Amino acid sequence: MSRDPSGPKMLDSAVDYWQQRAKELGARAVISTDHVGSVDGVTSQHRQVLLPQFAAQLPPVDANRPRVVLDLGCGTGRLTPDLAAIAGRAIGVEPVQELLQLAEPTAGVEYRLLTSVDGPLPLADGEVDAAFTCLVLGGVAGAGALAALGGELHRVLRPGGVVFLAESVSDQPAIGHWTFRSVDDYRDAMPWAQLRQVAQFDDAGDAVSVMVGRRPTG
Ligand SMILES: C[S@@+](CC[C@H](N)C(=O)[O-])C[C@H]1O[C@@H](n2cnc3c(N)ncnc32)[C@H](O)[C@@H]1O
Repeated sequence: MSRDPSGPKMLDSAVDYWQQRAKELGARAVISTDHVGSVDGVTSQHRQVLLPQFAAQLPPVDANRPRVVLDLGCGTGRLTPDLAAIAGRAIGVEPVQELLQLAEPTAGVEYRLLTSVDGPLPLADGEVDAAFTCLVLGGVAGAGALAALGGELHRVLRPGGVVFLAESVSDQPAIGHWTFRSVDDYRDAMPWAQLRQVAQFDDAGDAVSVMVGRRPTG
């Protein structure tokens, strides 16, 4: 994510960390501090890699209802309107109010505050057709917490719904706010999803894997 020692200082809770980072960096808080280009430039790279892959994985359109995608850890909603444009509707969920305040209101997009990262997601059972993350789960420390969040993704997905994760993969040790994991670690945390890697890209020197799985229909 960033090894920049001049970045925001490490705080006790992950949410405190992102809150502090939002106050110091504003809209740049959601991209690696190792990026030198503009947020728009980075976002354009992320769009190019992620959106066609995501569109290809979505369940087919149902004429009776819009498809709904959860953008978990949506930050400033950098990609949430794109997800809504592809799916029909998007719900961005984010624990840091300071980041949500920077999100532009957009048709088809709803933002919800996550009031406790240890509690349930603010979504009903089976509410979404797809769950998307872009560089979020590295911020969840501990295998137990990751598996619990995976359980929440299972709960909020419809049977057959898609889980789509773009997360940094590396064997380097964790830094204060970020845990580097392997694709196998993500598979172990969400065995029900049968994740497979569909792409990999470089994000300011970090390898990011794009992993896709499904909630079983049975
Ligand atoms: C690197 S930023 C990425 C934001 C957004 N996905 C993007 O690509 O612009 C990581 C985001 O994850 C959020 N986050 C951290 N822990 C979280 C958790 N347990 N559940 C949901 N979001 C979390 C942070 O507040 C932050 O907005």
